[in-house]
Amino acid sequence: MSLRGRHILVGISGGIAAYKIPELIRMLIRQGAEVRVTTTRNALQFVTETTLQTLSGAPVYSDVFAAINQHATEHISLPEWADLMIVAPATANSLSKFAYGIADDALSTTFCSCLARKPILVAPAMNDKMWESPATQRAIDLLRGYERVTLIEPAEGPLACGTSGKGRMPEPEELLEEVISALTPKTLLGRHVLLTAGPTVERLDPVRYLSNFSTGKMGFALARECLRRGAEVTLVSGPTAETILGHSDRLHLVPVGSAREMCEAAEADFPRADLAILCAAVADYRPAEIASEKIKKQPDSQALSLSLVENPDIAARLGEQKREGQILVGFALETEHEQQNAMQKMARKRLDYIVLNSLRTPGAGFATDTNCVTIFSSDGAKKDCPLAQKQTVAQQILDTIFI
Ligand code: C5P
Repeated sequence: MSLRGRHILVGISGGIAAYKIPELIRMLIRQGAEVRVTTTRNALQFVTETTLQTLSGAPVYSDVFAAINQHATEHISLPEWADLMIVAPATANSLSKFAYGIADDALSTTFCSCLARKPILVAPAMNDKMWESPATQRAIDLLRGYERVTLIEPAEGPLACGTSGKGRMPEPEELLEEVISALTPKTLLGRHVLLTAGPTVERLDPVRYLSNFSTGKMGFALARECLRRGAEVTLVSGPTAETILGHSDRLHLVPVGSAREMCEAAEADFPRADLAILCAAVADYRPAEIASEKIKKQPDSQALSLSLVENPDIAARLGEQKREGQILVGFALETEHEQQNAMQKMARKRLDYIVLNSLRTPGAGFATDTNCVTIFSSDGAKKDCPLAQKQTVAQQILDTIFI
């Protein structure tokens, strides 16, 4: 749970995208956060106070003069309580009020008093004509100039009024990623991380390939964590269903198929990397030849033999090219003599760390959302990480590497 114990103040103004905010509140709470909500009066035309109050488990601050307010100074106490405020959707009207310090309702007064104290994420959402309005753009420029404000650009796509253009609020999952990222200390700012992830696929003929059960979950979790910590990331990945939301300015995703393609992409990026984490399950062998036609069934139930040749060992190659200061991390998945094999692998490939996956622990390894690993360092240190979500394991791996 990346937001355990964090206090998130959600501000909602009166746009149709407000109907998605109850889902964001649920996601924040599932991540361990405590949530309070403040809205404009018009926001409550799109989403009810009952819904917001039930999901957040606290009264909604929408009326400055309501009798329910504890001290009638919620606009001061809520920002004090909060670690971060997110306003979504932010309408053209609210944006302009925020920019000029107009404080005439619960949301705008709360925003105004939060501005000097806490980080604020603002997700504008409106019709594209409203977004393009010079008045809105001027307000946006002003807000960009405020130190604690981060604007989440609206996306392009279908709009509620039936047209298509720029103005869509990003989906709740993306807003959640922005919140987690904003609260993650930027310990990898200015660093470049190279990651390999997923399986490789080695083609046999036009319709078949050799591969393995890797899903890319661990590698993508590591990439996500590096991005949240401020790194620039090159993620070289075999075929996977995994995705990374947001961070598009610092993520370079390089999709590859075979081990040789993965090797080429990793070697091209390695010179600029401060840290390389090789998480991919790379096929050790590939078919000696790729048949140009589909391989036919053998006559008379004859066995079919495949001739395989060795693939490049990407980790070992990067180990040879490694220069002073670069950190190289590999993974190992062993079925016997786990520790001994992992240590030998670390030495042979000139790795600085090796992360041993336990196949014996239920819930660890391929295609699960959880993992259980032991991290060995080339200076002899060892750290056991208990079974946890792969995203949490990713945090522990990075905490171990950058003490
Ligand atoms: O397959 P093996 O157990 O040797 O993998 C250990 C480490 O080496 C992993 O980090 C894996 O990503 C990497 N590796 C590689 N290229 C290969 C085989 C493995 O980079 N051909």
